[in-house]
Amino acid sequence: MSDESRPHRTAAVIPAAGRGVRLGPGAPKALRTLGGTPMLIHAVRAMARSRAVALVVVVAPPDAAATAEVRRMIDEHALPERTEILVVPGGETRQESVRAGLDALPADITAVLIHDAARPLVPVDTVDTVVEAVRDGAPAVVPALPLADTVKEVEPGRPGEPEPVVATPVRARLRAVQTPQGFDLATLRLAHEKTAVDGEGATDDAGMVEQLGVTVVVIPGHEEAFKVTRPLDLVLAEAVLARRRATDAY
Ligand code: C5P
Repeated sequence: MSDESRPHRTAAVIPAAGRGVRLGPGAPKALRTLGGTPMLIHAVRAMARSRAVALVVVVAPPDAAATAEVRRMIDEHALPERTEILVVPGGETRQESVRAGLDALPADITAVLIHDAARPLVPVDTVDTVVEAVRDGAPAVVPALPLADTVKEVEPGRPGEPEPVVATPVRARLRAVQTPQGFDLATLRLAHEKTAVDGEGATDDAGMVEQLGVTVVVIPGHEEAFKVTRPLDLVLAEAVLARRRATDAY
């Protein structure tokens, strides 16, 4: 990694193969629109807006029709010409989808961002800060915010039944992590090779790198990088977009 003559290109992988069941019935989450534009297109633009990102790999739902639909949608929308965009089919779990994205990266990529399609509004400054930290030598970087709520660890019970509290972690030591998470590519590949897909698979790439014993660092996240998961998040995302359109060049 210390060979300065090697090109240092950064790619972004966007896992977008989830069905988004928590958002309610309808199209796969990444294809739902915000301000008239599919959430996935917002996410691709958020990555492509960073001059550091040379390539974006979109991981589409695994069936051929869905993959073709995602390709068509990307070709229909205006995106910066300097950014190359690939579409590959994903897997049953997020972990497998990310792995499919990593497998599609060309040999000259040395750093990678993993960004959820479900975080369409992350500002470019946050993306750039993650890339810079990786280029400065951090093997794994996550944007994160302090928590507003106190968090309890519980013994999960049956739905609807009271759950006993097991512990109350000190809130000041907790962070809610966002994406894009940035990695030295070789480190993330190793983490994926060493981590078997178990049940729903890993939902956090940095967590897999931690399991290798590699230090993961946190940089400040942004409140607009929230994940669109539940119906109320769509309302908030529309409001953020409307505010941006009213105040800057969107
Ligand atoms: O379900 P969740 O919100 O945790 O999904 C996070 C991201 O992972 C979403 O962008 C989703 O599209 C993606 N994902 C995927 N392949 C899966 C499951 C989720 O690419 N099989």
